[in-house]
Amino acid sequence: MGKGFYISKTVAAVAIVVGAAAVATIIALSVVYSQEKDKNTVKPADVVTTAVPTFAPTTAPSNDPWHRYRLPDTLVPEFYDVILWPHIRQESNRIDTFTGNSSVVFRCVRETDLILIHSNKLNLTAEPTLTALSGTPAPIIHSTWMQDTTQYLVMQLNSKLTAGESYVLLTEFVGELGNGLGGFYRSEYKENGKIKVIATTQMQPTDARKVFPCFDEPAMKATFNITLLHDHNTIALSNGKEIESVNVTINGISLKKTRFEQTKRMSTYLLAFVVSEFDHIAQTDGNVLIRIYARREAISAGHGNYSLQITGPILNFFESYYNTRYPLYKSDQIALPDFNAGAMENWGLITYRETALLFDPEVSSSGNKERIATIISHELAHMWFGNLVTLKWWNDLWLNEGFASYVEYLGADHAEPLWNIKDLIVLNDIHRVFAVDALASSHPLSSKEEDIMKPEQISELFDTISYSKGASVLRMLSDFLTEPIFVQGLSSYLNHFQFNNTVYRDLWDHLQDAVISSGTKLPMTVGDIMDRWVLQMGFPVVTINTTTGDLTQEHFLLDPQSKPNQISPFGYEWIVPIQSIKHGSSQELYWLQSKTAQDNRMKTTAPEWLIANFNVSGYYRVNYDQKNWERLLAILMSSHEVIPVINRAQLIDDAFNLARAQHICTTLALQTTKYLSAEREYMPWQTTLNNLDYYYLMFDRNEVYDLLQKYVRKQVEPLFYYFKSATANWTEIPSGLMDQYNEVNAIRMACSTGVEECVSLIKGWFQQWMDNEAINLINPNLRSTVYCSAIAAGGAKEWDFAWRMFLNTNVATEAEKLRAALACSTVPWILNRYLEYTLNPELIRKQDATSTIIYIANNVVGQPLAWEFIRANWAYIFSEYGGGSFSFSNLINGVTKRFSSLFELKQLEQFRDDNADVGFGSGTLAIQQSIERTRANIRWLEQNKAEVTEWLKKATEQ
Ligand SMILES: *[C@@H]1O[C@H](CO)[C@@H](O)[C@H](O)[C@H]1NC(C)=O
Ligand SMILES: *[C@@H]1O[C@H](CO)[C@@H](O)[C@H](O)[C@H]1NC(C)=O
Ligand SMILES: *[C@@H]1O[C@H](CO)[C@@H](O)[C@H](O)[C@H]1NC(C)=O
Ligand SMILES: *[C@@H]1O[C@H](CO)[C@@H](O)[C@H](O)[C@H]1NC(C)=O
Ligand SMILES: [Zn+2]
Repeated sequence: MGKGFYISKTVAAVAIVVGAAAVATIIALSVVYSQEKDKNTVKPADVVTTAVPTFAPTTAPSNDPWHRYRLPDTLVPEFYDVILWPHIRQESNRIDTFTGNSSVVFRCVRETDLILIHSNKLNLTAEPTLTALSGTPAPIIHSTWMQDTTQYLVMQLNSKLTAGESYVLLTEFVGELGNGLGGFYRSEYKENGKIKVIATTQMQPTDARKVFPCFDEPAMKATFNITLLHDHNTIALSNGKEIESVNVTINGISLKKTRFEQTKRMSTYLLAFVVSEFDHIAQTDGNVLIRIYARREAISAGHGNYSLQITGPILNFFESYYNTRYPLYKSDQIALPDFNAGAMENWGLITYRETALLFDPEVSSSGNKERIATIISHELAHMWFGNLVTLKWWNDLWLNEGFASYVEYLGADHAEPLWNIKDLIVLNDIHRVFAVDALASSHPLSSKEEDIMKPEQISELFDTISYSKGASVLRMLSDFLTEPIFVQGLSSYLNHFQFNNTVYRDLWDHLQDAVISSGTKLPMTVGDIMDRWVLQMGFPVVTINTTTGDLTQEHFLLDPQSKPNQISPFGYEWIVPIQSIKHGSSQELYWLQSKTAQDNRMKTTAPEWLIANFNVSGYYRVNYDQKNWERLLAILMSSHEVIPVINRAQLIDDAFNLARAQHICTTLALQTTKYLSAEREYMPWQTTLNNLDYYYLMFDRNEVYDLLQKYVRKQVEPLFYYFKSATANWTEIPSGLMDQYNEVNAIRMACSTGVEECVSLIKGWFQQWMDNEAINLINPNLRSTVYCSAIAAGGAKEWDFAWRMFLNTNVATEAEKLRAALACSTVPWILNRYLEYTLNPELIRKQDATSTIIYIANNVVGQPLAWEFIRANWAYIFSEYGGGSFSFSNLINGVTKRFSSLFELKQLEQFRDDNADVGFGSGTLAIQQSIERTRANIRWLEQNKAEVTEWLKKATEQ
């Protein structure tokens, strides 16, 4: 699946504080949404159902196969023939049904008198029938029942199936076509004032069993013949190319029947079926037909053109990178109005959120475009890695997602070579996941197969660790092996296991063979090195003493008083590849293989400086002796370009985090930002702003705030004027993507720290739009920032205008930008009214309610209002959102993250006690974490406030 937690850069930039937590709400929200929608119930249509009991007829001992979550090793599917008919009615907000039948051919590999096949929320409409492929009589089905908890259809036979024989099981069923976003579901949109309904699927990880009875485990690969029945005015799509579409009449209803070519051998979670009234655009690239499907309006407005244009180049890139042809004949990509994740890599029919596939050059920002390029690249990467070769079980999900999250940058870079997008992995994945993986409560990449059984355990694996840490360690691996060796091993792995399944060690083995045949020397095998990164959580901080040449490593924990929650098989010691730069020239790769080591090449003499972890290709932080830090600070001040731009961002991020963890003093971290008045590059600036978020949270309600603002203004003013002249007085768009992003930073920070010229510039732009609302001339890249700043500086007039624009827009990205900006007001009654709106689904959709409250809480004026609001409305909010989703914990974390006084700690504890009867549901852990975080904040302020004040005073006086 594509990352669910993508958020457009510009939206992220609106809130002064957008950390990993806020970003994570985006996934969380869609989960709530799906659960919310699931609750609506409407009577199913006119289908007769055979009565099948839902529990085993006998009182069975609990170790019966149907009580286990994993399939027994008795039966193996080979082929399915599936017909499905979604009964859609083009009306709003109903629950429809689908009917279908499926024949599965399976081979018996161990004799058994029991058939277990996954089936969830399906009702059988006829008794299942079993025949032997050979024509000999098959055993009789003696009893049939649904095992709800383990999601099986169970059939007890009166005699045994024979090992080596193949059988055909025919089932007929009906299922609900509801609004939940899993299995076969319906999605609605309006076109020319009319409701249109789509029937579409999301199988990963365990919802294919909601669509038809199947052996729903990734290793149970089979081929599929799919047929869809659908209305005349609709089109049907599936994994294979459509080979025939004919008119049929069933139960007196005239329909289209579309058959698809037989699929390759594949896993059930990669199936997809879509019936819609969509339009498409197409082109052929070699043998491959590439099509983009979307709402008719979007296609005719050209919003699919960008995706179509980059898909061919990205497919070509992966064909040569993997050294393997694209395995299918067609590649469809479709944009859906309701979609849970960012995108889903169904083989040959990839499904997307609209914002992840459709690009409107008039209103979409470069951030929106970058997101489209990287998500498409991510999903196309899976067509080989994940789909052609699939991990055996979900415990290895990190390899599938981590791999796609790494190579998505390579594919996008090939399609957009001018963007320099490969560098961004450092900010978007490495720095982001460092924040999570530095906590004592983190977890290793790899899980044990036996620990991942239930669907909810599988779902939990789709987290930042799997995606971003997975990507980071694979990038490190590719880097130390070198890309030619990495891709040689990769291509050998893909060829060897095509249409089959693997465990992660299989990849290590093929890489190891490539290492051996290249003659490269490694300190250990690929597997031994990678075990340290995969089987233990966290990462090391490497400390280099440039006077003595001593190196040490230790597990980096953000809270130095915390203890990891589990014992590591390697005692938190890593095999660390260290690529350093000494005084501008890069050094030979050095391997740190123990807790301490000594190497003379790490020694420097003044004025030489040393930086380790060149381009942050390694997954670790670095600390130095004071002398080297001082030399680095000096070189930043005198000629920062000598240090590669990624390493400038690294110095800042490492310094701030080392200070938080008390490895170095806070003023040293602050020192790394002094040179920024001369910095024009995006990555160091963005890193600084990410780290200053915490300072703003801690200081924006006390006297330090004024000094902090003064200091940031002093640093950012030159950047603002640089962009003013680089864009010919704001009339042009910077050519580089990174420059476009940094222009946004310059304006956002200049305005928020009160640079007069910035504030009046933005007010002017917004006023122009208010004067003529039909024409919005504000550059799409700057919209989030402009809206936010103008609303912050304005009053009711500006707010009401933006609110009206929010209600009017039919472009999802534009609505998102406005909704976030509306939280920027500094007028308490306006913010209170906006909070009230979140209780009214007619005004703020339910799926957006919690994130809107969090946006308001991010604003220093809104923070106490939001806190009061959730306390006053707790019972209601809990009943609406409390049922087991993490958006709820994000709400609690979001509203309390500024807490840093004893008084607030008391309030929080009081809140916990007062609502003990209502409860906190999925927010229980979040309440505990908030209390702990508040304590840590109090401690941090005690230790640092005076020092920071002193430092800022000096820095602003100079
Ligand atoms: C399946 O059967 C159950 C129990 O009779 C019923 O509540 C449910 O609505 C049925 N679902 C469909 C889609 O027919
Ligand atoms: C199929 O049915 C549609 C709608 O009734 C009709 O327009 C079309 O001509 C039919 N096609 C064939 C091949 O009969
Ligand atoms: C499955 O579809 C293929 C065409 O893609 C066809 O040749 C084959 O006969 C079909 N198999 C069955 C059992 O219908
Ligand atoms: C899949 O891999 C396994 C183990 O390597 C092997 O035994 C099996 O024959 C392979 N199956 C196919 C269809 O290639
Ligand atoms: Zn993915």
